[in-house]
Amino acid sequence: MNQQLKIKKMMYGGDYNPEQWPEEIWQEDMKLLKEAHIDTLTLNVFSWAALQPSEEEYNFEKLDKIMKLVKENGFQVVLATSTGAHPAWMAKKYPDILRVEFDGRKRKFGGRHNSCPNSPTYRKYSVRLAKKLAERYKDYDNIVAWHISNEYGGECYCENCEKAFRVWLKEKYKTLDALNKAWNTRFWGHTFYEWDEIVLPDLRSEHFEYDRSQFQGITLDYKRFNSESILECYKQEYEAVKSVTPDIPVTTNLMGFFKMLDYKMWAKYMDFISWDNYPANEDSPAMIAMNHELMRGIKGGQPFILMEQTPSVTNWLPYNALKRPGVMRLWSYQAVAHGSDSVMFFQMRRSVGACEKLHGAVIDHAGTNETRVYREVRALGEELDRIGGLTLGAREEAKVALYFDWDNWWAVECSAGPSCELKYKDEILNYYEALHSRNIAVDLVGPEDDLDGYKMLIAPVLYMTKEGYDEKIRQFVKNGGTFVTTFFSGYVDESDRIIPGGYPGRLRDILGLWVEEEDALPSGTENSFTYNDVNYPARLLCDLSHPEGAEILSVYDSDFYARMPVLTVNPLEKGKAYYVATRSNREFYEIFLKNLCEEVGIEPVTEPQKDLEATERVNENGRFLFLLNHGEGELSVKLDQDGTEIIENQDYQAGDEILIRAKDVKIIRR
Ligand code: GLA
Ligand code: ZN
Repeated sequence: MNQQLKIKKMMYGGDYNPEQWPEEIWQEDMKLLKEAHIDTLTLNVFSWAALQPSEEEYNFEKLDKIMKLVKENGFQVVLATSTGAHPAWMAKKYPDILRVEFDGRKRKFGGRHNSCPNSPTYRKYSVRLAKKLAERYKDYDNIVAWHISNEYGGECYCENCEKAFRVWLKEKYKTLDALNKAWNTRFWGHTFYEWDEIVLPDLRSEHFEYDRSQFQGITLDYKRFNSESILECYKQEYEAVKSVTPDIPVTTNLMGFFKMLDYKMWAKYMDFISWDNYPANEDSPAMIAMNHELMRGIKGGQPFILMEQTPSVTNWLPYNALKRPGVMRLWSYQAVAHGSDSVMFFQMRRSVGACEKLHGAVIDHAGTNETRVYREVRALGEELDRIGGLTLGAREEAKVALYFDWDNWWAVECSAGPSCELKYKDEILNYYEALHSRNIAVDLVGPEDDLDGYKMLIAPVLYMTKEGYDEKIRQFVKNGGTFVTTFFSGYVDESDRIIPGGYPGRLRDILGLWVEEEDALPSGTENSFTYNDVNYPARLLCDLSHPEGAEILSVYDSDFYARMPVLTVNPLEKGKAYYVATRSNREFYEIFLKNLCEEVGIEPVTEPQKDLEATERVNENGRFLFLLNHGEGELSVKLDQDGTEIIENQDYQAGDEILIRAKDVKIIRR
């Protein structure tokens, strides 16, 4: 499913909840939002209880008024289906809609994102509501997109889910023999003889804590099942609105690196990706950027919509620091630099009650245009008007692919051993950060993505080698690609069963070595190795390997495995495969990847310097070089081509130095 937004400029706006306010305020809102150059409003995100006051009754009166108001005032609408929180009466009448927690606790009514995904009641009434909304508002030509539910997530361990899990398993394995084999159930006498002996893996059964499972095969399948169950809710609403408005693209707001849902699979059923970006002030620019890359990557590099960010402050962090002056603008452009075709906020007006009353908004409790936040929003709105549609649809042209896979994420982190400190995302970030610091464009790719056009594939902690992926890597390398992988790779198949015959299993011939053992270093302890005459730490995990054709580039300095390889390269036909047997530090990753990139001719977008982030997006209007200064001092960048800065509309010539103040952004069209 793939349908582009029909927009003429970058969308600017966000969540608007006029239903929480008396109507007198609405006209004031319209005035203030227009003055801020806002053009798009996300409506109806949490109105289910208002729209359906009882089982038989629907009431669209207020939403009719809001739709009319917004249309008359010239706004585009992202229309939500309101199914992110069910009504209280529904929970009372149909308790099957309530979730059961990981510890077995049955929930009562309350909160949001709280419906059991396999509840027949939820499925029936959410889909019915979505369809009714589509039928009622189908003639509004200002609806640019459907926004199904809101930030899907969570898990349910109720009896309905348990029954549905068995059906899902039957479909997947066909026979109990196949299931018993995949889960290795001879271990601890788990053999299943009837399907209904299988129970959900939770605190009452296979888990001793949330992440650590005693039967990874079962847990892994539950995670897949849960992600697919929730996806099914989304798909049913998708079909409902599409059956009435086939020309309106459909999305749901994702959350970056969100572990519970396999977004790579979800992306197939979304016309375009949208996501909510809520970094903490202390998150590094690379960390934020990597989330954007993932959201761009799950749909093959297609631009996404930044659906939400706070204009100033959140309410749910331990310390809800303000975004400093200029940071909202900087992070907005950062999203655009990495593929966004919008800048959107949660929310337009700050609510007066419940937990989000202290969450930032464009219009604050003061209710005026006389606030710092409002002024910053208005100033950015003016700029986006100037940029208009120039950058819409522009794509990045990365030569480096960084592999990321949800199944692998789940499997690595529910594994018992080798180290409680091993976090898949951290290992991805180590490599991403090093490339980001050098302004090297990176695509995050998944197992199904094509590798054509890339010069380098990096797959840290490729613990699960999916059937056929080794062959993809092999061909990539043979055809001249450079492959990099690390410790704890090639261990298991898709069911989390070890691939016997020596690690890294199917990758053994590609890397030209075999791994015999793996040592986990407790936090605070380290080994070391020397690379290009500099000594670097070896931390977390150390693989003990034997080359079978690979050339040793560096060895461990100490312990009983001193002089065993820590860094190797294996030539394979036209390409090379590198193996990094341990985790090191930032300095190492930077220099190591710098050298590899230089060796294979991967160029930075612009010469790297501290605090400078640079990306390039390309469309039929030109090549857009984004230069962002994340630091506190001024930066100067020498341009290597003529171009026009499109925020200020200023021309530059090759050789000119362009000055970028602290937190400032330049976008050069070339
Ligand atoms: C999420 C939700 C919004 C709002 C914001 C607050 O992104 O989608 O409804 O709660 O968080 O940060
Ligand atoms: Zn359930």
